[in-house]
Amino acid sequence: MSRMIVPHTTPTPDSDGAPRATRTVRKAVVPAAGLGTRFLPATKATPKEMLPVVDKPAIQYVVEEAAAAGLDDVLMITGRHKRAIEDHFDNAFELEQALTAKGDTVRLDAVRDPARLGDIHHIRQGDPLGLGHAVLCARHHVGDQPFAVLLGDDLIDPRETLLSRMLEVRDQYGGSVVALMEVPPEQIHLYGCAAVEPSGEDGVVRVTGLVEKPSRENAPSRYAVIGRYVLDPAVFGVLERTPPGRGGEIQLTDALQELATGGTVHGVVFDGLRYDTGDRADYLRTVVRLACARDDLGPEFVAWLKEFVAGLEEDGGQERNRLAA
Ligand code: G1P
Repeated sequence: MSRMIVPHTTPTPDSDGAPRATRTVRKAVVPAAGLGTRFLPATKATPKEMLPVVDKPAIQYVVEEAAAAGLDDVLMITGRHKRAIEDHFDNAFELEQALTAKGDTVRLDAVRDPARLGDIHHIRQGDPLGLGHAVLCARHHVGDQPFAVLLGDDLIDPRETLLSRMLEVRDQYGGSVVALMEVPPEQIHLYGCAAVEPSGEDGVVRVTGLVEKPSRENAPSRYAVIGRYVLDPAVFGVLERTPPGRGGEIQLTDALQELATGGTVHGVVFDGLRYDTGDRADYLRTVVRLACARDDLGPEFVAWLKEFVAGLEEDGGQERNRLAA
């Protein structure tokens, strides 16, 4: 593992107003070393995390989500060909100068915003040994504190407050917290899956076991682990001795399974808006939904979309053929 930490100096104000000292979780880890093969050829020279969702790269939404939950220290676990991510969260001197000269303050803010989201650090995973290994790479940076992990492929709609809820649950119960979503049985093999018991609290469950991408027959439930975690630092010791699991990779799910057996993992059940931007169809849905929700683009885009869909319904899809011709 080669280490390359690039701390940004831009301090951010506490977004939730809470004094830092009272906050138990301040650090977020964002694994972003995957090859993005589902999106080739777009991801041949561009990291999948940098694919635009409307006009921001997907990973900016993830860092904004962390910042909105009060996490102002973000460590990206990257790999080769991920320089664009580092550049995106850095200052862009020439661009900023050009926009300043033009007096274009709106675009200037848009250029500066990513670097203002927090103290952003980068470290390289080196060998692609799996999500568990990526998280283990964060060990020295995180230290002996609980921390959040946000997977870049999973976008949680900016209007949701899942991560803040998970931080509350960690404060309440200690240990680690995973985000769970009920999925149809035929999709469970795509996810980590949790065996759960009621906790006595609405929307919160005790996780008694976890299995990475089980077959439909072997799945202990329909609760899929989605890409948000609040982890106790105890996970590092477990990850160190976790052997390669499914796909020959060191799986975070396997380490959490051991912690779950000890009764220290809870789940927050989420039924809000989540998008898998690593999946092409879901990526398209994400762009459409988030564009519709935008004040600047939304009204005009929705009007066009309605007309477009009406056209499709009228001519049984001929519209598509016309446009393709
Ligand atoms: C990873 C995790 C899996 C989790 C999923 C959520 O899998 O290993 O447990 O359910 O993220 O998106 P991946 O999608 O990276 O294969």
